[in-house]
Amino acid sequence: MKKFPYTPLQIAIIIYAWSGIVLLIFDLLTGNISPNPIQDLEQRTGRHAITLLVLSLLCTPIHTIFKWSEPLKRRRALGLYALLYATIHVIIYMDLDYGLAWSSIYENILEKPRLIVGAFAFLLMIPLGITSFDIWKKRLGKNWKRLHQLVYLIVPLVVLHYVWSKKGDLLSLQGEVLKPMIYGLIVVIFLIFRIPPIKKAIASFSSRYLSPRKKQDPQPEQS
Ligand code: HEM
Repeated sequence: MKKFPYTPLQIAIIIYAWSGIVLLIFDLLTGNISPNPIQDLEQRTGRHAITLLVLSLLCTPIHTIFKWSEPLKRRRALGLYALLYATIHVIIYMDLDYGLAWSSIYENILEKPRLIVGAFAFLLMIPLGITSFDIWKKRLGKNWKRLHQLVYLIVPLVVLHYVWSKKGDLLSLQGEVLKPMIYGLIVVIFLIFRIPPIKKAIASFSSRYLSPRKKQDPQPEQS
């Protein structure tokens, strides 16, 4: 009998990734959309993009803690889905919100620092998406890893763009800042996790207590 070509993790990623577009189309068709539909579309696609991006960061810690190597193979898919939603998010802003009026778009972005940050993050995501394929990995050699470490800059920028887009007070945690702060906290934990001595300590703790009998998997290429 032919083996099923997808693993449960791949199926979960495909379902989650496409659920954003499917629910959006469903809500548009059934009229279940806020009185400000363009803003609603912008917010939903933006949130789906950041969630997929953060999930792609989660893959390495999961591997380090549980010695489960499959998530490392799924980072590319998560990153590309994040780029897809970020692109839809930007197209909605440029086309539906600003009718492709380039000078207004340019002015609007430049006068709002939160949009400059979002645009910078988006521009950085493009080369990562393009070079995420194996052919580029071979061509770029060691530089591929260096380039893909940009994700540790992109994610904090996107979190900043998110926090800044919400009305509220960061210091008193009032208004709509709680959700973006949770993303921020997750990202800070991931970044702390990347500090070599901490990463090493967690890996050795995990080998000793969480997966003591498992031999360490050969480490696939990290981004
Ligand atoms: C040229 C680049 C970008 C532009 C012009 C842009 C524009 C916007 C605008 C106008 C909003 C505010 C919507 C509103 O509440 O009225 C927004 C919010 C948001 N954007 Fe972007 N964005 C850009 C890049 C990105 C990227 C790359 C991501 C993620 C990967 C992203 C994720 C988000 C998120 C999470 C929100 C907040 C959603 C919410 O309020 O729940 N944006 N963006």
